[in-house]
Amino acid sequence: MWAPDALQKTLEDWLSVGPVHGVYWLGALDPEGDLSTMDLTTWHEALRIRVKALYVTMRTLYQQIAAPGTFLVSATRLGGQHGYDPSGAFAPLGGAVAGFTKTYKRERIDAMVKVVDFEAEANASDLAQIVIEETLRDPAAVEIGYKDGLRWTMSLEEQPAVDGQAGLTLDKDTVFVITGAAGSIVSAITADLAAVSGGTFYLLDLVPKPDPDNPDLGRFVSEKEALKRDLFARIQTRGERATPALVEKQLAALERAHAAQCAIDAVQAAGGRANYFSVNLTDADAVAHVINQVRQQSGRIDVLLHAAGMERSHLLPDKDPREFDLIFDVKSDGWFNLLHAIGKMPLKATVVFSSIAGRFGNAGQADYSSANDLLCKITSSFRTTRPATRALAIDWSAWGGIGMATRGSIPKMMELAGIDMLPPEAGIPLVRRELTVGGTRGEIVVGQRLGILLNEWDPTGGVEVSQSDDQKRLSAPGPMVAKVASMGIHQGLSIDTVLDPAVQPFLHDHQIDGTPVLPGVMGIEAFAEAALCMLPGWHIEAIENVNFL
Ligand SMILES: NC(=O)c1ccc[n+]([C@@H]2O[C@H](COP(=O)([O-])OP(=O)(O)OC[C@H]3O[C@@H](n4cnc5c(N)ncnc54)[C@H](OP(=O)(O)O)[C@@H]3O)[C@@H](O)[C@H]2O)c1
Repeated sequence: MWAPDALQKTLEDWLSVGPVHGVYWLGALDPEGDLSTMDLTTWHEALRIRVKALYVTMRTLYQQIAAPGTFLVSATRLGGQHGYDPSGAFAPLGGAVAGFTKTYKRERIDAMVKVVDFEAEANASDLAQIVIEETLRDPAAVEIGYKDGLRWTMSLEEQPAVDGQAGLTLDKDTVFVITGAAGSIVSAITADLAAVSGGTFYLLDLVPKPDPDNPDLGRFVSEKEALKRDLFARIQTRGERATPALVEKQLAALERAHAAQCAIDAVQAAGGRANYFSVNLTDADAVAHVINQVRQQSGRIDVLLHAAGMERSHLLPDKDPREFDLIFDVKSDGWFNLLHAIGKMPLKATVVFSSIAGRFGNAGQADYSSANDLLCKITSSFRTTRPATRALAIDWSAWGGIGMATRGSIPKMMELAGIDMLPPEAGIPLVRRELTVGGTRGEIVVGQRLGILLNEWDPTGGVEVSQSDDQKRLSAPGPMVAKVASMGIHQGLSIDTVLDPAVQPFLHDHQIDGTPVLPGVMGIEAFAEAALCMLPGWHIEAIENVNFL
């Protein structure tokens, strides 16, 4: 496998000979070994081959793989259902490839872009055939999977947090390790967890340990404008040029220090113990050093919350390799270094902070989306690899009021995309709720309106409505389904049927005062036929719990 520069050069050489119309990205099909015994060098190499080389490739081919008729088809071996099945993701590093691919689709909407997932044991020739077939049909679904002889995609399902299973008890004995603790939303969530538990908190962040006596920390909240003027004056007094950018930088550092101090204060106010560490999570030795202190002082971790992160939005051509590494590595190397350092120390629950950008992809966030989806898929793999650990991934929508999404033009972009900003009062208690009221494992999306993220990629959901072959394949035997109009991922199945008492005896014979009325039984029949449209060859066993209102 080439080094990034050599890979780019090779691709450019190919382009000098002629156009490239498509890319098959198959690196994530390779065995990746056991994460728990993998060393850092192997981890880096595995991700370089899978996602960082994909970034170099698609950045170089960005103008080529854009128009209708061009394609990027990636393949993963997460298990055939992208890790959303009870056994969890099989080869979870493919999550980074899935996250990248979804973002590529959002940047290059006219190209055919898909990530096709396979079972662990899928053989090479079946797989090759499927990947080619997927290139040729159904532009409507980006995430496709093959499992148990069936073709799958995925959508969202609403599930209650209270699920009858026992949740965690959070009390003064609970040991929390929280990364990104000086993050705005993380500080607020830490305060919430502290208030309910009064437990022990190990708080990790890049931000230096704040000085509680620094008067600027309080002023950051109570008199921000006056503080800004003071910062300006102080810079000038030092004989430096006081630019607005410099003042904003100092203000941002104070925001972080203030958030870190708030987290520490909240733990102490609740009678808990706060241990703050200024640490770069990408530094394996530094992380190991902190986790060793956790091991010596507490001997276990009850809740590991990995929330450190960075975000810089640039479309691929403007996203240089340094930026990609910076954004990707905080989340991915940070997570690897933590898990590696924790080793076999008891670990009751993990929570990773992902994003709707990881779930759906988001233009400008190829690095962030790849890293977030990687965290989600590793979380999913814990069902098999760490069954004693309850692992959760939260795909947050953009928060309003506090946090990284309130900076720059993000709120405006969210509004244009029809995505609601999450009110902090809704987000803050959520981690506590998920941990304590039930037994949720896996990935949850937290947000309100998701706007364009739930738009279908194709108005008919990829069904070729005018093609009689497709109609024949999709229609079910029976009187209620005349024509499948569309089969969207988020919007479901639509069927067109003309009901005419002159044609259908069940209407002719079922009239009240001369008005034909659809018999309830035929409504139920319509459900059964609709279900068979989606699963031809299956058998309807029963339709239960029907209520006529
Ligand atoms: N806020 C949202 O709307 C939103 C939405 C979806 C997902 N999320 C996720 O939620 C998490 C927290 O978000 P937030 O809004 O609180 O973010 P934030 O305010 O930007 O805080 C993130 C924190 O992580 C720290 N960090 C960055 N690189 C690090 C490293 N190498 N080692 C240790 N710490 C590092 C940052 O320090 P520096 O400031 O010094 O870089 C910062 O204190 C992130 O993982 C984010 O992806 C947030």
